[in-house]
Amino acid sequence: MLDLARERLSRFGSRVLLVAGDLSEPNAIALPSFSFRAAFSVQTIHHLSDAEKAAAFAWLAALIEPGGLIVIIDRVKVEEQLFRDWAAIWRKLDPRTPETYAEHVGELTEAGDRPALLQDQLAWLELAGLHASCLHLYGNRALIVGRKSD
Ligand SMILES: C[S@@+](CC[C@H](N)C(=O)[O-])C[C@H]1O[C@@H](n2cnc3c(N)ncnc32)[C@H](O)[C@@H]1O
Repeated sequence: MLDLARERLSRFGSRVLLVAGDLSEPNAIALPSFSFRAAFSVQTIHHLSDAEKAAAFAWLAALIEPGGLIVIIDRVKVEEQLFRDWAAIWRKLDPRTPETYAEHVGELTEAGDRPALLQDQLAWLELAGLHASCLHLYGNRALIVGRKSD
């Protein structure tokens, strides 16, 4: 991903700085001491445990300046009790949607995917001091934002 980003962003020259880091240990990431106006995460947070997700959100919330924004596009977890209802919609988007919750969980486990409930992700952002909302939900993918007060 970093190689791809390096290639795609090369035309911006020194305006781009790529930093590799492990979000399960965010405080070890060697970021420059810039002031950050926004943070974007696409399809990455679901690789972390729930405790690591909450810690990563708190880390990001502390990093961004007042008025700053966190934008997250990621998977959301489905509760077993609601799986049949969700699957009825997902199947219209993707005919390979599993028939049972057990199959669904098996696929997630095999892929190393650990999505969290939408309400938990919003709660962790709020706990980090942000105003949080889901702006768009499509199947099991959510666009979640957190805005820091000015
Ligand atoms: C499904 S890919 C998404 C990549 C890209 N954002 C996209 O949307 O195409 C998941 C990405 O999360 C990264 N990732 C997984 N665990 C991570 C962690 N603990 N810290 C940082 N990145 C991680 C992987 O390296 C991979 O690039």
